[in-house]
Amino acid sequence: MELTFGDVEETALIPLAIKASETGRENARIKDEKAKEIIDALGVDVSKYDPFMSHEGVVARTIMFRRELKNLIAKYPDALCINLGCGFDDKFSQVDNGRIAWFDVDLPEQIAKRRKVYTDRERCTMKEGSALDGEWTKRLPKRDMTIVVMEGVLEYFSKEQVKTCVNMLCDSFEHGYLLAELHSPFLEKNGKHHDAVKHTNATFGWGTNSGEEYLGLEPRLSLVSETSYNEEMKKYSIRGKIFAVVGKNLNNRLAIFKW
Ligand SMILES: C[S@@+](CC[C@H](N)C(=O)[O-])C[C@H]1O[C@@H](n2cnc3c(N)ncnc32)[C@H](O)[C@@H]1O
Repeated sequence: MELTFGDVEETALIPLAIKASETGRENARIKDEKAKEIIDALGVDVSKYDPFMSHEGVVARTIMFRRELKNLIAKYPDALCINLGCGFDDKFSQVDNGRIAWFDVDLPEQIAKRRKVYTDRERCTMKEGSALDGEWTKRLPKRDMTIVVMEGVLEYFSKEQVKTCVNMLCDSFEHGYLLAELHSPFLEKNGKHHDAVKHTNATFGWGTNSGEEYLGLEPRLSLVSETSYNEEMKKYSIRGKIFAVVGKNLNNRLAIFKW
């Protein structure tokens, strides 16, 4: 069955449209052929989902998540890796070391859509599951270390849901890392002005000033590092440089937690 426009949830369309358009550029900073293939197949104009600041933000976060994920995989080459709320994202092919066991997990309706454009690969398996209920984790292979990626997912959760999610992860896996995209309380309140998300029905959930705020929800967690997307965005454009000053605490961050 073919993928149709209605299959792509609007918030998932944003990173896809951006990764596809960057891939098509000369001197592309990231290459994501799968995103390009999906957007080309949909055959619709997605330019409204690709404004400048969101474009730069998605490119920055893709580079930052990939870098940190590669570092962790170098340290734990046999890790169990989970892209939780994977949407249509194809991280496995960017970081595979030939040994990790990778699972792309999302809600059943999203996995059904993903199956229209992806097939399971060796050590890379799609699985229906929720970030709010750990039942699916019981059927995963056991590895000494688990690395969970949540990119563009926790931003839409309430504080209660974030708590449920991090409690579930710590209950399900003995040792792990969580690479998470966090956003500010400012964005929580002003999300309707976000240059790309304003074109969708999505609203932002609980925003934080620091990943430290997660530690009160789950005592097993510690915060390893937290980096604003500004750190990457300021390398590429004047607007990125300016935003790093005027929007110092406003941009999203990559937080790495450990338990
Ligand atoms: C904005 S998309 C991000 C997709 C992908 N991580 C990326 O960066 O391209 C948000 C994703 O979170 C998924 N999602 C929402 N609630 C979820 C839940 N409770 N459990 C797992 N995934 C969820 C959605 O289905 C969607 O695929």
